Formats: sequence, C-alpha cells, structure tokens
Amino acid sequence: MKLILILLSTIYLCLAEEVYQNSSHICNTCNCRDEDEFVLECANKGFQHILAEWPAHNKTLVAVLSHNNISTLGRLPFSNYTVKVMLDHCNIKNLDPGILANIAKVELMDLSYNLLTTEAIDGIEFKGPYDHDKYFPTALKYLNLAYNMIHSLPTRFFESMTDLEDLNLEGNGFSVLDINTQTALSSLSKLKRLNLANNGLTELVGDAVLNLKHLEELDLSSNELDFVPNTLDYLKSSLKILNLSNNFIYKLNDKSFLGLNLRYLYLNNLPRVKSVGPNTFATLPLLKKLEMCNNTHLRDIDREAFSPKQELVELYLNNNSLIEISYKLLQWKTLKIFEINENPLSCSCDLYNISKDLSIDITRNLDGPSCIDSSGHSQMIYHLKSSGLCKNEKHEFDIDYAEDHFEMLRVTIVGLSTILVVMMLILSAVAFLRYRRGVAVRNYPFTAQVSYNPLQNRQF
Ligand SMILES: *[C@@H]1O[C@H](CO)[C@@H](O)[C@H](O)[C@H]1NC(C)=O
Ligand SMILES: *[C@@H]1O[C@H](CO)[C@@H](O)[C@H](O)[C@H]1NC(C)=O
Ligand SMILES: *[C@@H]1O[C@H](CO)[C@@H](O)[C@H](O)[C@H]1NC(C)=O
Ligand SMILES: *[C@@H]1O[C@H](CO)[C@@H](O)[C@H](O)[C@H]1NC(C)=O
Ligand SMILES: *[C@@H]1O[C@H](CO)[C@@H](O)[C@H](O)[C@H]1NC(C)=O
Ligand SMILES: *[C@@H]1O[C@H](CO)[C@@H](O)[C@H](O)[C@H]1NC(C)=O
Ligand SMILES: *[C@@H]1O[C@H](CO)[C@@H](O)[C@H](O)[C@H]1NC(C)=O
Ligand SMILES: *[C@@H]1O[C@H](CO)[C@@H](O)[C@H](O)[C@H]1NC(C)=O
Repeated sequence: MKLILILLSTIYLCLAEEVYQNSSHICNTCNCRDEDEFVLECANKGFQHILAEWPAHNKTLVAVLSHNNISTLGRLPFSNYTVKVMLDHCNIKNLDPGILANIAKVELMDLSYNLLTTEAIDGIEFKGPYDHDKYFPTALKYLNLAYNMIHSLPTRFFESMTDLEDLNLEGNGFSVLDINTQTALSSLSKLKRLNLANNGLTELVGDAVLNLKHLEELDLSSNELDFVPNTLDYLKSSLKILNLSNNFIYKLNDKSFLGLNLRYLYLNNLPRVKSVGPNTFATLPLLKKLEMCNNTHLRDIDREAFSPKQELVELYLNNNSLIEISYKLLQWKTLKIFEINENPLSCSCDLYNISKDLSIDITRNLDGPSCIDSSGHSQMIYHLKSSGLCKNEKHEFDIDYAEDHFEMLRVTIVGLSTILVVMMLILSAVAFLRYRRGVAVRNYPFTAQVSYNPLQNRQF
C-alpha cells in the first residue's frame, strides 16, 4: 500500500514536472516590449509554473517573472537567442534537473529571494544543453542566489558555468565556507564579482578564493569578521573594490591592506573601530574612494594614515566621533568629494587649512560640516577665519593674519593723521591770528593802549 502511494506520488511528481504555464497569447497576459532587447514583463501574475514557450523574439530576450509562486521551477523554454531571466521572489523550493538545457545562451539568472536549500541544488540542475551524450556548458555570466537558504555548494556546482563572472550569494547561511564550497568556488577562474555579504562569516578561508585570479570586486559586508582577512592577499593582483562595512573589525593598521591594490574601499558601520593607525591606507597607492561613515567609536585617524603621494578623489567621514583631523593627513586639493558631517570636531587651524585647500565645488556647499569653537558654539568649517585659530604660528607667515593686522594699522594711521591735520590746522590758525595781532600791534603803536585791560594791568 505504502509502495503504491510512493509510486503514485512519484508519478504525480514526474507529471507535475511537465506542467507549464499556458503561454499562447502570452503578450495579452503579460507586457511585451520589442525594444533594443525583447522584454517580457510577467511579474506578479500568480503563475505557478514556468511558461511553456517564450513569445516569438529575434533578439536578446529579457524575461521578468519576479513575484510569482513557482514552487518547483521546470525546464526553461527553448530559445536560440541570449536570454536573461528574473525569477526572484517566486517561492522556488526545487529546481528540475537541467533547467537550462533548452537555452544555450542564458546569460543572466536571478533566483534571489527564493526558498532554495543546499539539498535542493546538487549541481545537475544547472547543466547546459545535452547533445551526443554530453552536456555543453551554459553561457551563464551572472547568477544571483542571494537570500535563499543555502549553506554549502556541491563541489561540481559550477562545472557547467565556466564563464561565470558575477556570483551573488548574499544573505544565505554560509557562516563557514566548507570544503565543498571551497572546491566549488575555486573552479571559477573567470569570476569578477563575488558577493558573500550577510552570511555570518567569521573568516575568509584562503582556499575559497585562492584561484579567483580575476576577482575585481568582493563584498564581505554584514558578516562577523573581527579582522580584515589576511587571505585577501591571494587576490592582490586583481581586487579593486572591497566592501567590509558592518563587521566587528576593530583593528585598522599598516598590515590591514598591505599588498592590495584597491581603488574603492568601504569601511562603514564598524562599531568596534576606535582608531586608524599609521600607514593603514598608505599601502594602497591607487585608492580613489574611501567610505568610513557611521563608525560611532572612531575618534582618531593617525596623521600618517595615508601616504603623501596618494591622490584620493572621494572621502566620506560622516557620523564618526572624530575630534580632530590633521592638515597633514592628505593632499586635500585632489578631492572631488569630501564629507565630514556629524562629528564632534573642534575648530582648529588644521580644519581652516583643510578648507582653504579643498576645491570650491566642495566648500561652496552651504550645508557643509561644522565644528565647535573654544566658546562652545558651532561654526561652519568652510567659513572659518584664521585669526584666533592660527595665530599661535609665530614663525610662519599667514596672509590672513597679516591682513587683519594691516587693517588695524590702517585705521590707526588714518585716525592719527586726521587728528594731526586737525591739530595743525588749529595751531596754524592760532599762529596766524597771533601773527596778525603782532603785525597790528606794530603797525598801530597805540592800539595796545586802546585795548587797555584793567585785569591784566592789575597783575603787574
Ligand atoms: C491556452 O490558452 C488559450 C487561450 O489563451 C486557449 O485557447 C488554449 O486552449 C489554452 N491551451 C491549453 C493547453 O490549455
Ligand atoms: C524581428 O522581428 C520583428 C517583428 O517581430 C521584425 O519586424 C523584424 O524585421 C525582425 N528582425 C530580424 C532581423 O529578423
Ligand atoms: C503558492 O502556491 C502554493 C502551492 O504551490 C500554495 O499552497 C500557496 O497558497 C500559493 N501562495 C500564494 C501566495 O498564492
Ligand atoms: C536555432 O538555430 C539553429 C542554428 O543556429 C537553427 O538551425 C534552428 O533552426 C534555430 N531554431 C529556431 C527554432 O529558430
Ligand atoms: C557595502 O555594504 C553595505 C552593507 O551591506 C551596503 O549597504 C552597500 O551598498 C555596499 N556598498 C557597495 C558599494 O557595495
Ligand atoms: C550614525 O551611526 C549610527 C550607528 O550606525 C546610527 O545609529 C545613527 O543613526 C547614525 N546617525 C546619522 C545621523 O546618520
Ligand atoms: C549611516 O547610518 C544612517 C542611519 O542609519 C544611514 O541612513 C546611512 O545610509 C549610513 N551610511 C552609510 C554610508 O552606511
Ligand atoms: C596651516 O597652513 C599654514 C600655511 O600653509 C602653515 O604654515 C601652518 O603650519 C598650517 N597649520 C597647521 C596646523 O597645519
């Protein structure tokens, strides 16, 4: 009896595998757009199965089947053209063997936000077309398995995906990259982008990335890393973009990125980082963009954290606990974007000097960052005046300081000269009057007697 039941359910399952969504006149049910690519838009249609056929197309087909309810994904319909298919948010639990066997040129497959488990993907599902007793590799370049429930990949999982360039495994259960996963990953010699974010990883096992000779971008954000993994060293010749945000990393020093050649580095939301040591970024001569925001305990960036030769283009330091920034830290002139909002900075000559070096495109921002002056008031950094901040620099010439003093001197001189002129006028007037009187006395000898003053006379 049990056997019959099992047999029946097996038959049912086999039959179920053959069930497809009726797709005649599919462009009436869905939205079809014949543009640069042929776009079939079937999101949110309540489909329980994959379509039986694609609509007629003679160019690249983009099939958007997101947000349907396809618990078992059957074999995708035949196409001679390049196909990109979105099957995210579809409640997919199982994959039929050979889902890609009908499409030689499927290039992109988005299976994110489904219910796939390690058990449901034993590797045969992604096999390419079968012909003359052998499987051909698929043309898959982009595979998105983010936000499923996978914790390990079968050793030969990528065997028929030899061209894979972009793999997204974010938000699964890879808290350790086990031996099988390591072996699987190490076959991806063309991989350029790998996303392992949000998996609870505590380390990056070297053997998992050892063979990724072309990996340019690695996302390790939102994991449980305590250190910048030293196994990144295996990727030193190719890695350009590294995201380590949202981790428990607490040390950033000259060893952290030694030997790497990063262009873009993301270090946001590292709650345990308190300081950045000397030469931390000096070892990254090609670094263009650095984000270090929301590191609520970051108080100090060593003035020698960068090298003097570095030409950073974008620097984000918002929402840290920075109190001071050394003017010597960077070549400020090369920056095109600089953000340092939400920090308890105290106004200093360093900040004044920095704002003088920054490009006008940055400092014209009226919503710019602020600092706290010696009397506890908030000041806009880009409007700081040097006097009062830089005046202790006795031996160095400071134009603004001299200008301020020259102004005072000018006022004093003008004032003094005015007083002088007025006094001279009065004096000469007095002298002239006296002279006139003298002349008059001499010319009219009797005037003195006429102007007889009894009071004066009494004195003698
Ligand atoms: C598919 O749907 C069309 C109408 O859209 C109908 O005429 C046809 O019979 C259906 N085919 C199957 C196999 O159900
Ligand atoms: C592609 O198909 C469209 C109609 O579906 C047609 O107008 C066009 O000529 C075809 N192009 C080629 C190159 O066959
Ligand atoms: C999805 O399909 C399953 C059966 O495959 C069904 O039990 C479930 O109710 C469906 N969910 C929605 C939201 O339609
Ligand atoms: C697919 O392409 C092959 C060769 O490129 C051709 O022989 C075949 O007829 C095409 N099939 C369809 C359905 O267009
Ligand atoms: C880096 O990771 C964070 C957290 O996961 C994410 O929000 C951000 O978009 C990522 N940045 C880049 C450039 O990938
Ligand atoms: C600053 O960062 C903390 C920690 O990530 C966050 O909770 C807070 O909302 C952020 N504040 C601002 C203004 O962004
Ligand atoms: C910092 O935190 C705020 C608030 O949580 C968030 O809006 C912002 O995106 C975060 N910035 C970065 C660069 O992670
Ligand atoms: C500020 O800049 C002036 C002129 O370039 C320099 O002499 C002085 O040392 C700088 N002060 C600080 C604190 O960097």
